[in-house]
Amino acid sequence: MGFWVRILALSVVCLFPALIECRVRHYTFRVVTKNSTKLCSTKPIVTVNGQFPGPTLYAREDDNVLVRVVNHVKYNVTIHWHGIRQIRTGWSDGPAFITQCPIQPGQNYVYNFTITGQRGTLLWHAHILWLRATVHGALVILPKRGVPYPFPKPHKEVVVILAEWWKSDTEAVINEALKGGLAPNVSDAHTINGHSGPVANCSSQGGFTLPVESGKTYLLRIINAALNEELFFKIAGHQLTIVEVDATYVKPVKLDTIVIAPGQTTNALITADQNSGKYLVAASPFMDSPIAVDNLTATATLHYSGTLANAPTTLTIPPPQNATAVANKFITSLRSLNSNKYPARVPLTIDQKLLFTVGLGINPCPTCKAGNGSRAVASVNNVTFVMPTTALLQAHYFNISGVFTTDFPGNPPIVFNYTGSGPSNLQTTNGTKAYRLSYNSTVELVLQDTGIIAPENHPVHLHGFNFFAVGRGLGNYNPNTDPQNFNLVDPVERNTIGVPSGGWVAIRFRADNPGVWFMHCHLEVHTSWGLKMAFLVDNGIGPSQSILPPPSDLPQC
Ligand code: C2O
Repeated sequence: MGFWVRILALSVVCLFPALIECRVRHYTFRVVTKNSTKLCSTKPIVTVNGQFPGPTLYAREDDNVLVRVVNHVKYNVTIHWHGIRQIRTGWSDGPAFITQCPIQPGQNYVYNFTITGQRGTLLWHAHILWLRATVHGALVILPKRGVPYPFPKPHKEVVVILAEWWKSDTEAVINEALKGGLAPNVSDAHTINGHSGPVANCSSQGGFTLPVESGKTYLLRIINAALNEELFFKIAGHQLTIVEVDATYVKPVKLDTIVIAPGQTTNALITADQNSGKYLVAASPFMDSPIAVDNLTATATLHYSGTLANAPTTLTIPPPQNATAVANKFITSLRSLNSNKYPARVPLTIDQKLLFTVGLGINPCPTCKAGNGSRAVASVNNVTFVMPTTALLQAHYFNISGVFTTDFPGNPPIVFNYTGSGPSNLQTTNGTKAYRLSYNSTVELVLQDTGIIAPENHPVHLHGFNFFAVGRGLGNYNPNTDPQNFNLVDPVERNTIGVPSGGWVAIRFRADNPGVWFMHCHLEVHTSWGLKMAFLVDNGIGPSQSILPPPSDLPQC
């Protein structure tokens, strides 16, 4: 087909989206700096198309999505489509120096991927430096045309993006922390769709309003785009019916509070079944270990139509910051829908059993004045990941040696009481190591928190795959007794899972996606400190089980 014929054919398909399924979706993301005023203070922020939060990307299951990212800012940029499986298209996954070199100032790159076997809410975000603080947005995957939701059709759908806001420049915040060796400053507020609601010293800061009509049901697509904090989310006087997490359907469950970690998404139905009026919506931090967080609650308002503007708001009290029980109630109630249409394909036989410790460490740092000659680091199996300067996927595909090694340990190098007081030596080793998996092998991975410095909940995100969370517990994982309690029938399927404070979580997945796949803590401070590693999944047999060739516009380092 000639060029113009193709253009014509494409526009015909896309001019009548209601008649013919529009299979190619084109987006342009201009990364630009924009002045933004919040908390009564103004600063320039990096945005997509000048928006915070960024534009929502809509697509349907099976669509081919093409996003041209144009970099107009002074930073190197990449965008990650968090939770998109990217089957054979690792080049479009986005983590800088893992699957691609960054898009340099003035350059552009087209992310090109097809959404296969997924529907629901995900998010996109920058995957370099701390740019995702303001460079993020919703990714809504609608079911194939004509395929209904496995729950009553809502009257309306609303994207609800939770985030954190710093009055100062976030790149300066992390740079200062890395230079001194100590933890970065916590944020100055949380936001709901870009608004914190009134805060001390800035009562004029408004909140987001969610208009509802009495008796109608709404689908909230809730996303935690915060950098470093897990959040509770609740609405005064209303129950939330959870129907999906991380773009996989779950058995509907009714709760008044959800907990959501950075990188996670939750779809919840809410029915406006209370007296007409205004109801408070609250997003507040969850932290159940002695670590500083921004303790401010972001507020928004659920507003019934016909309510007078000066009517009082029905309030709600957010759970205490350390409300582990509230968090656990939500987490343990999640089950895969596991219906005929949406079966939970949990691997039942396992080829690779892995145990990875995740946690903090302390390394010497002669130049770290604030840290007194030491710096906080983080590691997986005691390896603090060192960012390469050539993308791992390129090194793998083109057989470039010297970029990474495949000797990532499958078990902790030293066995100790992981959740106890810890070893006397808190030092980690540095390395750019991947763990190699053969195509289609089945993996069981136990992520074990350590008590080094402090036990902490780590929301671990795996690129390229969904996994099933088959088990979870406190203390040290026991390979003899704990598997007896695994749920292999309807465990929740996700892409980001909280490793409980001082505990462990077991996940299973099938390595059916060739490429190099990042896995890291989605608390950005821990990623910066090195709590990250990569899986290298070999090609299988023939082209349909192999990585596609890199696109011609793949950025150069
Ligand atoms: Cu949402 Cu590697 O991250």
